Amino acid sequence: MSFLPFTRPSIDEATIAGVAEVLRSGWITSGPQVKAFEAELSRYCGGRPVRTFASGTITMEVGLRLAGVGPGDEVITTPLSWVATASVILEVGARPVFVDVDPVTRNIDLKKIEPAITKKTKAIIPVDLAGLPVDRDLLYQLSKKHQLRVVEDAAQAFGASWRGRRIGSFGDLVSFSFHANKNITTAEGGALVLPDESLVPLTEKLRFQGVVRSGEDGMEVDVLGGKANMTDIAARIGLGQLPHLEEFTAKRRALARHYFERWDRSLGCELPPEDFGNSNWHMFQAVLPAGFPRARFIAAMREAGIGVGVHYPAIHTFSAYRALGYREGQFPNAERIGRETVTLPLFPAMELTDVERVVKAVNDIVRGARK
Ligand SMILES: Cc1ncc(COP(=O)(O)O)c(C=O)c1O
Repeated sequence: MSFLPFTRPSIDEATIAGVAEVLRSGWITSGPQVKAFEAELSRYCGGRPVRTFASGTITMEVGLRLAGVGPGDEVITTPLSWVATASVILEVGARPVFVDVDPVTRNIDLKKIEPAITKKTKAIIPVDLAGLPVDRDLLYQLSKKHQLRVVEDAAQAFGASWRGRRIGSFGDLVSFSFHANKNITTAEGGALVLPDESLVPLTEKLRFQGVVRSGEDGMEVDVLGGKANMTDIAARIGLGQLPHLEEFTAKRRALARHYFERWDRSLGCELPPEDFGNSNWHMFQAVLPAGFPRARFIAAMREAGIGVGVHYPAIHTFSAYRALGYREGQFPNAERIGRETVTLPLFPAMELTDVERVVKAVNDIVRGARK
């Protein structure tokens, strides 16, 4: 039986041919494909302005800069995310203020945000972990009440929605990632949805060395910017992915449903909320029974020909963060989930029988270890 990875992008032949055309065209960095991809993304996001970037990480960093976050500011976020969520806060000179997660949704516990707000708090970065959206109604009630900006880390939430509205089509700044593992990919890349058109010029400057060209030969730089533009090669992949989004999401939902149908609840694992309205099912994550050795589980699954991912150890437990004063024990829900969670295979090219194979292997391993 062939190895089943925990994820794999689905890229069709038309997209591969399209990328070859871009490569032959003589224009391979940012150009017409980027413009076309941004126009399609904007259409998807209800007409809001969208600009693409080289990665989801730099997209978030630019989002924070546009929100005016800088040295001396605090940004509230979750410790249970890919480390980029917090690193970008440090990158702009601000301080991450972590708030523990809700053990059921595994997303930031919105009830715990108010006590963490200080005079220095400038923004909130919510993360839609595994594609399950943070409650946008409560989030924006909070941000309005305390006049905080929001940079949505929707890296994992492309294709998800909140009560019938697409993530990205409303709210403050919304950041997506198109890394290879995401629900649609450009290999590496990201996109920022802007709350209004007036931010477009600064966004474009921050993306490309601050440069503004004019006339035949004019060039001016009035702010410092990085080098974070998406290439036409990447954008062409994205253009080939977008038409498949609905089909990809539907398949992910069907596979997730099958996990719930087949899962043996007596194993003692914690499953995610059964949300088939909002989530895009970016990942299917189970929390192993308390004390179960995760490394042994992963090795045994590999033996059975199945890949397992680890997303993620709590950010504040990394040594670079401990050196800044964060300590183990501060956010027990995130720490426990971060230690015990496993990401099981879920991607559009999988079949329902693959889910059955995974569930059987999980049963054998967890039960076998208990004997
Ligand atoms: C929650 C979250 N935030 C940020 C990122 C950063 O995105 P990228 O890898 O495209 O830089 C990712 C993806 O890797 C992510 O999953």
